Order: sequence, then C-alpha cells, then structure tokens
Amino acid sequence: MKYYLTTPIYYVNAAPHIGHAYTTMVADTLWRFKRMQGYDAAVTTGSDEHGINVERAAERMGKSPKEFCDVIAAVFEREWQRLGLHIDYFQRTTAPEHARVVNDLFKRCRENGYIYKGSYTGQYCIFDNLYVNEAKPGDPCPECGRPTETVTEENFFFKLSAFTDKLLEFHQSNPDFLQPETRHNEVISFLKQGLNDLSITRSNIKWGIPVEGEAPHVFYVWFDALTTYMSAVDGKGLWPADLHLIGKEIVRFHAIYWPAFLWAAGLEIPKRIFAHGWLLFEESKMSKSRGNIVRPEPIRQVMGADALRYFLLREVVFGQDGSFSYDALVGRYNSDLANGLGNLASRTLTMIHQYRKGVVPEGSAKAIAAIAADTIPSAESAFDKFEFSRGLESIWSLISAVDKYIVECAPWKLARQSDETSQKLLDETLYTAAEALRIVTALVAPVLPQCAPKIWSQLGIPEPLDSVTYKGLAWGGLKPGQKIGEVAPVFPRIEASKAIEEMRELEVKETAEQAALLGKTPAPAETASPKIPIDDFVKIDLRVGQVLSAERVKGSDKLMHMKVDLAEAQPRTIVAGIAEAYAPEQLVGRKVVIVANLQPRKLKGIESNGMIVAASVEGGKPVLAGFHEDIPVGARLK
Ligand code: MSP
Repeated sequence: MKYYLTTPIYYVNAAPHIGHAYTTMVADTLWRFKRMQGYDAAVTTGSDEHGINVERAAERMGKSPKEFCDVIAAVFEREWQRLGLHIDYFQRTTAPEHARVVNDLFKRCRENGYIYKGSYTGQYCIFDNLYVNEAKPGDPCPECGRPTETVTEENFFFKLSAFTDKLLEFHQSNPDFLQPETRHNEVISFLKQGLNDLSITRSNIKWGIPVEGEAPHVFYVWFDALTTYMSAVDGKGLWPADLHLIGKEIVRFHAIYWPAFLWAAGLEIPKRIFAHGWLLFEESKMSKSRGNIVRPEPIRQVMGADALRYFLLREVVFGQDGSFSYDALVGRYNSDLANGLGNLASRTLTMIHQYRKGVVPEGSAKAIAAIAADTIPSAESAFDKFEFSRGLESIWSLISAVDKYIVECAPWKLARQSDETSQKLLDETLYTAAEALRIVTALVAPVLPQCAPKIWSQLGIPEPLDSVTYKGLAWGGLKPGQKIGEVAPVFPRIEASKAIEEMRELEVKETAEQAALLGKTPAPAETASPKIPIDDFVKIDLRVGQVLSAERVKGSDKLMHMKVDLAEAQPRTIVAGIAEAYAPEQLVGRKVVIVANLQPRKLKGIESNGMIVAASVEGGKPVLAGFHEDIPVGARLK
C-alpha cells in the first residue's frame, strides 16, 4: 500500500535553517516509520522559486532568476543529502512539467466555471514590486516602509467564496483532516467569517509561470506552489497525498485554498494535513528577517544529524512551538543518547564479549519481555498519531527498565560465581539485555537512521535493519548462539562548552557562506562600536517628525531640503542626503525619525536643524526609519 507524504516547498530567497530541516526530518522519520508498518512510502519536497523576492535577490547577484534559483535549490538539495534525508521527489516550481500541471489545474477549474477575469484592487509597493495583502491604503510596504499605492489591474480570480459552505461542512465532519485540533478549530472559525474570491494571477510580474494563452498573466504564489505536491508525482499513481506536513503559518493555504482548487478541478483532495509549531530561538520564531537562525550543518558536523533529529522529536511536542538552544541539545544528547541508549548498548555488548566470548546466550526474563511487548505497540501507535515525543518516552522507559534490571541482577557479580544457578541467571540477564537492545534499536531506527544501524550491526544481526517491520518485531527474535560484532561507542559523551563553541564558530562561517550565495552582506556577529552607558543614549533626543514639504537642493544630487513638523512652535528645516533614494512626493506626509538635539549645521548654505534617521548598507541607498502603527508627531523615541 502506498503512503505519499510531502513537506512544504521552501522559498529560495533564504538558505536552509533548522526550521526547514525540522519538517524535512519529520518527513524522513515518517517515511521510515511507514515502511516499518509495511507501506510503500514516498516523500516529496522541493523549492518555491517564483515571485518578486527571488527576482530581486537574483538581481543583486547579477544573475538571471533561473540561474539564481539553480544555485539555491542545489543548496537545499545538498543540505538534505548531507543530513541523510530520504527524498523521492525534489520538485522545483521552475520545472517544465510543473508549469504544465499548474496550467492543467487552471484549465480544469476554468472549464468547471470557477475562474473568472476580474479587477483586482490592492496595495502595491512600486519600489519593491510587491503586492501587500490585507493592507489598507497608505499602509507602509513591509519591505521598505514606503507608503504603498492602491493599484487596480485585471487578474484571474478563483471563486473561493463558492466553497465556503462545502469547506465548513467538510472540516466539521472530518475533524482529523487537519491536525492538531487547535488548527482545526482556527480554520472552522475562519470559515465561519466567510471567504472572498481569490486573485490567482498577476499581470505586473514577470518571474512566474505564464498562464497559457493569456499573456501577460502569470500565476501568483499559492496556485503555483501548492500544485507542486501533484506535479512532483504526476502519472506515478501517488495522488492523493496521504499527508501534507506543514508549519502552522501556512495552514489557511493548505486547508482552505488547496481543497477548494482541487474540488473545483474535480480532483481528489489530500487525506490529511498536520501543521507543526515553530522552532523558537532566543524566544522568537527562527526566521531570516529576525536574523536568529541556526543552521543544521554545524550541528551535524559536531554532534551528528541523529542528535538533532532526536532532540527535535523528543524535546518539542509535535504540533506545538518549541525552543531550540545548543545547551538543551547537548543536554538531551548526553542524558538520553550517551547515558541512556549508548550506555545500554556498550555495557550489554561488552559483557557478552567478556563473559560469553561474544556469543548471545539463552534465557529470558519474563518481566522485561512483558514491558517490551507493551512498548512495541505503544511506540507504534504514538508515532502513528504524530506523538513522537511520547513514543520516544515509552521507548526510553524500556531502556530504564532494562538498566534497572541489569543493576539488580549485577551480572559482574554473577560472572565471578561458578555455580549453575548464577551462570544461568547470567545467561538470562545477558540475553534479556541484548534482546531488549535489539527491540529498542529497531523502534528508534526511524528517528536515528544513522546510529541505529551501527548498534544493529554490533549486535551481529544478519538481517538488515531496514527490513524490520512492526509485525515481525516480537520478543524472542534474537537468536541464542549468534555472534555479536565489534563494540564501539555510538554516542560518545559530549563536552558541552567545547561542542557549543565549535558549533557557534561553524555557524558564523556557514552564515557568511550562505549570505554570499544569496548576495547579502551578513550583519557582523558583533558590532565594532564600543558599548555606551544608557546615560549617553539618553542624551540623544529622537523624535517622531512629519515631513511637511520637500524639495531637492539645487546643485546637489544627494541633498533634500525639508520642513519637518516636530510638534514645536515652528517646523524645523532639515537637509538630508536622501535625494537619490526618495522623490520629494514620496516624503511629504511621511512620519520619520529625527535627531532633534543635534547642533545646527549648514549644508549648501541652508542651516539644517536636526538629522533624519535612515539605515543603509555599504554601497546601498538609505532607507528611512518609520512606523507601522500610528504615533503622534513629537513623540520621543527611547
Ligand atoms: N514556499 C512556502 C510554502 C509553499 S508549500 C506549497 C513557504 N516556504 S518557507 O521557506 O517559508 O517555508 C516554510 C516552512 O518551513 C514552514 O511551513 C515549516 O515547515 C518550515 N519552517 C520555517 N521556519 C520554521 C521555524 N522557525 N520553525 C518550524 N518550522 C519552520 O512558506
């Protein structure tokens, strides 16, 4: 039986971080888990390559968008390879067959009467060429902070509103379709507010899939992206997907738009969607724009990919947000992998070598056999419900039970006694520990695919670990008389401070390499400026000002002469070097930040009474600081 699962396709305007790795590692875990259940499983992931952000990033690099995408898509593919993740289909939205499937879907929806040409009115930033959804007239562009403009253009619309009742009824009667329950409830309340039709093409953008026969229209974002799940497996008999794994921020697109597109086209919808939570780093969502990113590569190099997988699946309740920190990662590794599983493996195998010349003896302790017999179905059913942490917890309870049992039997004492009872008990202890280790190793294999096979081969089991199924995994499978392999530590203890320092150093290197690929100047890890006491900062009087008038200073390309209201008796005269970045009409009415207590100075003969605050990068144009919420003129920044 087939089991087809997907991850989101990742935007190529950022390089992979552990947030992306999280979903892809879970997909890999589930792929292995489903195979152990006897399914023929397949995974799709890929890259989302269209849109204005990509076009802009390519421009910065002096590359064509396609050339740029080729580089970053390859970075994602390489990352998944380095982490040893199984991927059947890596689908790029720039693949020709993808464009065909998107157009097919569009045609089907159109033939069935769900597509119409309409007029789209929305907020748009002419500088960033960006449509800002849900913005009101005058709202700032989220990219550059300049006021957006209201644009009207002819686009194709999808009749999403026609599906409101059907979607509501569907979600209400299929509460398991979208998990976990919180997301299901959110979608129900969203649907109850009613749905608007959706503009699915744009005529202003070039970097997108052309709508066949409808130039200059190109598909816009989600109609293109979601279809990847189908185009990746076109003609392979895998549709509908059994599971879409996604992060919680893209639930609406998957649980509302996607089923509606498919229904409109007369196609089957996916069977399940699971939306996990966010990985937080330093308290907020790890994201490129916040700059609080952790990459998988340094962790892999220092601790191994399995350490990261184990941490993410054990520490974070799947479906909820979870915090990442290097301390917690190393802590979990040492307590559960080095001291827990690693220790059980090395002491069991070493004792079999020492006391039984490396041959598995005969005998079995009923109490441990019973716990193991319960652990197999409980771990399987927890994983089946995406409760990875609980599943691992139950496996680790078995490890603890075996540890306790070994201590109670004290095989090191039994080995010194030559009477038959002691020797029989020693056989029983060693067999029980080894058999429990075999079962634990098989159960953790979907989560620890690089380390579990090492323990498996040290146990000397001839059948390959990846042929083990839950059905075939019962107590007693280990054959007495089997020769065990050479023992080597699989999870050596890690010294936290040294490992963390190494990972941090590698992270800086990795950040710089990735920034270079993306054409970005990375923020320096530490600013060179000396630290100042707060009293020094307080001396600077920063105020909200509003530009009343602006004109270019004659004889200068750079300077702009402005009158700025600071809620004082008279507006201030301010001259600033922003004329190459802003036209006067873009400035008038805009709220800005002014250093209000600078000594006056003359520029081109005009006395400037204050300084306007702007950010800029080496060689780039200044971008004015502004506000996303309303704030009265004259308010102080502190
Ligand atoms: N391209 C769209 C998805 C289209 S799917 C048809 C997109 N791309 S993305 O690059 O922004 O990736 C978002 C996905 O990456 C999330 O849904 C999640 O799977 C993963 N994550 C990115 N950052 C994450 C965290 N900080 N924490 C957890 N997962 C994160 O959205």
